[in-house]
Amino acid sequence: MTLLDKAREEINECDRALAALFERRMAAVEQVAAYKREAGLPVLDSAREAEVLQRNLALLQNPDLAREYTVFQKGVMAASRAYQRRLLSDLYVETAEGGYPIELSRGVLARAGEELDLDRRVLIVTDSGVPAVYANTVLSACKNGVLAVVPQGEASKNLANFSRLLNIMAEGGFTRRDCVVAVGGGVVGDLAAFAASAYMRGIDFYNIPTTLLSQVDSSIGGKCGVDFEGYKNMVGAFKQPSKVLIDADVLSTLAPRQMAAGYAEIIKMAATHSPELFSLLEREGKDAPLEEVISAALRIKRQVVMEDEKESGVRRVLNFGHTLGHGIESRAAGTLLHGECVALGMLPLCAPAVRARLVALYERFGLPTRIPYTLDAVWGAILHDKKMAGDRLTYVWVEEVGTFELRTVTPREFYETLKGEAR
Ligand SMILES: NC(=O)c1ccc[n+]([C@@H]2O[C@H](COP(=O)([O-])OP(=O)(O)OC[C@H]3O[C@@H](n4cnc5c(N)ncnc54)[C@H](O)[C@@H]3O)[C@@H](O)[C@H]2O)c1
Repeated sequence: MTLLDKAREEINECDRALAALFERRMAAVEQVAAYKREAGLPVLDSAREAEVLQRNLALLQNPDLAREYTVFQKGVMAASRAYQRRLLSDLYVETAEGGYPIELSRGVLARAGEELDLDRRVLIVTDSGVPAVYANTVLSACKNGVLAVVPQGEASKNLANFSRLLNIMAEGGFTRRDCVVAVGGGVVGDLAAFAASAYMRGIDFYNIPTTLLSQVDSSIGGKCGVDFEGYKNMVGAFKQPSKVLIDADVLSTLAPRQMAAGYAEIIKMAATHSPELFSLLEREGKDAPLEEVISAALRIKRQVVMEDEKESGVRRVLNFGHTLGHGIESRAAGTLLHGECVALGMLPLCAPAVRARLVALYERFGLPTRIPYTLDAVWGAILHDKKMAGDRLTYVWVEEVGTFELRTVTPREFYETLKGEAR
């Protein structure tokens, strides 16, 4: 046996012992998590971590290894924290690359400095319609933060802004270890995540969604991108965030119509997956506890995107109302919000009893109930929709609340269905 072989065998033996110790440590972490759940305590306890680090450093017999041992200890603590978070949160999204937690709690924006790793260069992206105080809260938690404000509105989701964000990072000397934080609705989230996905082939991305729609829908799942040559979301990528912070308090400044548009996506998810959530909305309308509603919708979206990360199958259920909705949105040219168009787009694609319940809900939530165009006026835009696969398209049909069918048909068949069901 050479010296090298011997040393490697010694390393293997240490690794075996460490693996067993790691499992033992994690079993103890499970108990800590159970206690914290019971007592409602946060995962991060900085004082305890600092104390453990000091105590363990004192155990070292070779002080020359202090620096490496600190790195090792911090890694173990980070893994323990991540494990606790996974155990404590039903809102952990597992992905091919690992996964990310969603932190849903009032006031979490103010704790961004504790929740996110901002001890590096940070590009914060927001838009001119998002109250400045939200992005500034994150900025003030950074030592090395830079703020980019794009004009509010869908038109900002373009290649020029994408390029502007890349420029800011390049000029600011951002490296692969730095990160991007989105503070805004779906427009900001889609744009910022796309820039993070492309800069140096991908850097960390955190999302702090500030509209109801982005909190329940666009902030998880990883789809990002910009509009191109008049086509929505034509150029983009899949970029999973490292973490999502959802603070329902920021919705207090959101315009009522934007709130309603967010409820449309929630109603969509309830219609296809949750008779309980649907009934809660019917019973309590806007008085339904907001965090409970957000959490229920997020759990649906989380489940769907985990089953189908790259939208090749069941994830298409999230497009309920979207195939026709996009056609309406294109025809409306900015006069209707995305969520309003989705709401209208669901109406012809469900059984009459479901439709009646949807209309009643829309009235309660301030959503439109009648499509203001003829089918022929929106048909051209539907045909241009990129969700057509060759000469077939897939739409979602809801026969009963809480269920769905994916139907793949020819455009002509889809046209006939819409015509038959049009109100
Ligand atoms: N990536 C995905 O999976 C996904 C899913 C659904 C939608 N989207 C995209 O999301 C976008 C729509 O997102 P949206 O509905 O959040 O719209 P948005 O981002 O345009 O925000 C709506 C408006 O609300 C303002 N705003 C945001 N937060 C606010 C707050 N807390 N208080 C006051 N004003 C606030 C914004 O300035 C904006 O004017 C579309 O581009 C759509 O394509 C993406």
